[in-house]
Amino acid sequence: MTRQQYFTEMKICHTIEEIRRRIIDLREQGKSIGFVPTMGALHEGHLSLVRRSVEENDISVCSIFVNPIQFNNPSDLDKYPRTLEEDCLKLEETSCDIVFAPSVKEMYPEKAREEYSFGRLEEVMEGKHRPGHFNGVAVVVKRLFDICLPHRAYFGEKDFQQLAIIRALVEQEHLEVEIVGCPIIREADGLAMSSRNVRLSREERILAPEINKTLRWVAARAGRENLQETLAKARDKLNALPGMVVEYLEVADANSLEPIKNWYESENTRIFLAAFLGDVRLIDNQGIA
Ligand code: PAJ
Repeated sequence: MTRQQYFTEMKICHTIEEIRRRIIDLREQGKSIGFVPTMGALHEGHLSLVRRSVEENDISVCSIFVNPIQFNNPSDLDKYPRTLEEDCLKLEETSCDIVFAPSVKEMYPEKAREEYSFGRLEEVMEGKHRPGHFNGVAVVVKRLFDICLPHRAYFGEKDFQQLAIIRALVEQEHLEVEIVGCPIIREADGLAMSSRNVRLSREERILAPEINKTLRWVAARAGRENLQETLAKARDKLNALPGMVVEYLEVADANSLEPIKNWYESENTRIFLAAFLGDVRLIDNQGIA
């Protein structure tokens, strides 16, 4: 049985031509289109976005595409888990209507040349540590929007800075798509779900929840204890764990994402972290209640 015969309801499209034809047809029928872009290896975090789209739209489309131009580390791209078959099963169970799973050639017949500019938003945190990453994200998301023509698109707060970049992209390009930000889904022990978690060794997996524990520890000190000293202690605590190397730990304004030095500099702050655990890079962020 081919994959398409197996999925009776859900359609799987590999080419732009095929999915465009379907979407244009559905839009002509007056259907609302919800869209969830992903890189696959789907977990409950991704599926929460699909569920939200299914609730709010007539048709839900999920793309699965490991976007090479947003990886600045070739080994991270090589090791990125690819599990299309299982992903499709999960999507079908979640009542997704259309999966778009293009090849790299289909998305990039030629080298992508688009250059976006997001000012300070792309100079801090992830932007600073992963040069070119957000341009790669913006290029693929703009192309996917042009292909899937969604009324609404769903993004997780797990990638809080990416969500801000996408909102900026929509504004800059005058795109007619509503961006819906969705909360971070975590494992029972607090670890933010991520496709990269499967790459953690057993020992690393046991240590990984310390990341969110530490973010909550910082959050509990908001407005009470010196911010710089709190962050220094939190960094030291994490760096003392075997295999853990903190790349950045910052408190930033939740809108501008500009890091702050004192709690009183912003009324709407969020704590952001990136750390390597062995060779797996994990990110997390935490609001302050
Ligand atoms: P990916 O890492 O696969 O994530 C796809 C979407 O799922 C993103 O919006 C991300 O924020 C969300 N997500 C991941 N883990 C989550 C969690 N634990 N809780 C809630 N949402 C979560 O982000 C990308 O792919 C790519 O950059 C993409 C936007 C697809 C462009 O290539």
